[in-house]
Amino acid sequence: VRRNKRKIFLIGKNIGYSISPQIQNAAFKKLGINAKYELLDVGEKQFDKMLQKISKSPDTLGFNVTIPYKERIIDHLSEMDQKSQAIGAVNTVKVQRGGILTGFNTDCDGIKATLNTIGISSGSGKHAIILGAGGASKACIFTLAEIGFESICILNRTASKAQRVVEHFRRQFPKIEISRGNLTEENLHKYIKTCDLLINAIGHSTRNYFPTKLDFSTASDKMKVFDLGYKDQSLLLSRALEMGLEAVDGLQMLVEQAVKSIAILTGKTPPRKLMMTVARKTLRKE
Ligand SMILES: NC(=O)c1ccc[n+]([C@@H]2O[C@H](COP(=O)([O-])OP(=O)(O)OC[C@H]3O[C@@H](n4cnc5c(N)ncnc54)[C@H](OP(=O)(O)O)[C@@H]3O)[C@@H](O)[C@H]2O)c1
Repeated sequence: VRRNKRKIFLIGKNIGYSISPQIQNAAFKKLGINAKYELLDVGEKQFDKMLQKISKSPDTLGFNVTIPYKERIIDHLSEMDQKSQAIGAVNTVKVQRGGILTGFNTDCDGIKATLNTIGISSGSGKHAIILGAGGASKACIFTLAEIGFESICILNRTASKAQRVVEHFRRQFPKIEISRGNLTEENLHKYIKTCDLLINAIGHSTRNYFPTKLDFSTASDKMKVFDLGYKDQSLLLSRALEMGLEAVDGLQMLVEQAVKSIAILTGKTPPRKLMMTVARKTLRKE
């Protein structure tokens, strides 16, 4: 029996910028999988209804979830794997017959792979600052805690949200010093003096609003910088590179989370190299 083309979606809000369809569709083609990856740009009010609709469709193989739904999706899932439970955020959902939804987090795989490329495979004796306290930030905190960072400080605009994140991870990793501070340039400049790793996990559209003034001259010269954005180089990333710091953007994370997501949804080994080539080519064309 010939099946309809299977569908895999990216569900998020204002996601027209995403290059995930190009990356994922190239992988499906190479793997000979009859599937199509599509963007589903959904407003907060339509989210529940849209989710019901795609979950019930026999054509849906699964979906990825992005801003701002990585935490909200949890209420709709039947099961979650251990990692996504520990993180408290989901970016990959497998849809099984009867609308059973299983959640996974593959952002942490992308974060781990990226940290490896800047020489961070162990966090022993190391201190990190993370800007932002959303779903991506939580995947970062979990990854750093797992590789044994000594301390992690979260700087976020909304203090109550950061506090919830701090409590969530303190329970799981009582030996790690996990703290929070306000998202101010003063705080950032204070913390970078002693920090080994600075991660920017602030929302895409706002990433160049903070910080506006950046002075890395006081930063420890061993500090490494990871900015999760991959489209336009943020001020943070360009300043870090100008200062000669080792710094990396979010492109490898994007490709690696897609590799792991396709493996979960299809059971096949995705063509990682091809996916990276397509990602770079798509960005160059824009
Ligand atoms: N490269 C990749 O593969 C990859 C994967 C995942 C995410 N990302 C990127 O990571 C970023 C965060 O994603 P997410 O899923 O964690 O989003 P999210 O859950 O919506 O969290 C967004 C974070 O940004 C902060 N923020 C938003 N607007 C702000 C503003 N005007 N000023 C200061 N802070 C602001 C929010 O602070 P409040 O708590 O105060 O609202 C929150 O901490 C995005 O840029 C996304 O593109 C990249």
